[in-house]
Amino acid sequence: MIYFDNAATTWPKPPEVIESVCRSFLDYGANPGRGAYKMAMDTSRLIYNTRETIASFFKISDCNNIAFTRNTTESVNIGIKGVVRPGDHILYSSLEHNAVWRPIKSLEKSGVTSDCFQVDAEGKVDFADLERKIKPNTKLIACLHGSNVLGCVLDIAAIGEIARKHQIYFLVDCAQTAGALPIAPEEIGVDLLAFPGHKGLYGPMGIGGLYVREGLILTTIQEGGTGSNSLEAAQPEMMPDRLESGTVNTPGIAGLGAGIRFLETIGMEEILRHEQQLTKYLYEELAQIPNIILYGPHICQERLPVVSFNIAGRDSNEIGWTLGKDYDICVRAGYHCAPLAHKTIDTLNRGVVRISFGIYNQPWEVEKCLDAIKIIAK
Ligand code: ALA
Repeated sequence: MIYFDNAATTWPKPPEVIESVCRSFLDYGANPGRGAYKMAMDTSRLIYNTRETIASFFKISDCNNIAFTRNTTESVNIGIKGVVRPGDHILYSSLEHNAVWRPIKSLEKSGVTSDCFQVDAEGKVDFADLERKIKPNTKLIACLHGSNVLGCVLDIAAIGEIARKHQIYFLVDCAQTAGALPIAPEEIGVDLLAFPGHKGLYGPMGIGGLYVREGLILTTIQEGGTGSNSLEAAQPEMMPDRLESGTVNTPGIAGLGAGIRFLETIGMEEILRHEQQLTKYLYEELAQIPNIILYGPHICQERLPVVSFNIAGRDSNEIGWTLGKDYDICVRAGYHCAPLAHKTIDTLNRGVVRISFGIYNQPWEVEKCLDAIKIIAK
């Protein structure tokens, strides 16, 4: 099997991640923060240490400002719904995943309004459009860092500057860039950073996180079960307890810590360099095949290891299905939960076929995939 769906989730996971998840059941199997016996305290320590590992990775000064969640979608929901009230206005980009788009649309039922600012297929933000759409009641700018469909990267530092200038909260969804590009939310005015554990950080599925800027107290979307202030009816204000209701996912957290250590041992730049070589090879070869339509930034620009394409006159799902069934090559075709991105590139009628690389992919796999695509495209 050739696995080219790393933008959905990286696979395989590094052996040290798998080992660390397995070990957590044996050595860290107690409920953290709820007991004063050794295994409970060891489990709490493991969780605290992982929080510190994440804080150091994202250059966050206080690890307690990071809450563990199930995934980026949950983090985005907690972040958006935590700052926006009826009567507020939200801005989001024209490339958003529906993890951002749907919560915003859902809030519109309770008196929130929103507008979309334009970003092109190369990730270029129309800053004039963004500034023009800011209103006196604009409370939040929510946008992704990198597109899961196009692989382009947005200038979040520049968007953060605009948000700061207008005193608007800024939420960044770094589902595709955490572990691929350096991100330091405190250095670029990001108030809320939603990240996954299972993609570029090489952790397991079911674990993600949300960084909340110091002093920002979010309205909660769930309460109870923090293990702290047990006699109080109100959810504690202190982080991370405020956002961590119920027992956390210790195996996921253990695996995420191991994933970041794995990444740091190899080096984020080194991983990206490897993946970009594969991206360049694939992109340049695809461009030679008749009837292939490529999307997203040109290979010479800053981009993520994601290549999306179509074969003229063909449905993307049919191509994805054929690659899987006849060649055992795993890609993701269709809409990738990102209708706005597809509207931007005019593929709402058929989606695209997406190939996305991870650390374990090799050039021979790209070669085999290209052979298959050449046959399918004939
Ligand atoms: N959002 C993920 C993807 O792009 C799951 O496939």
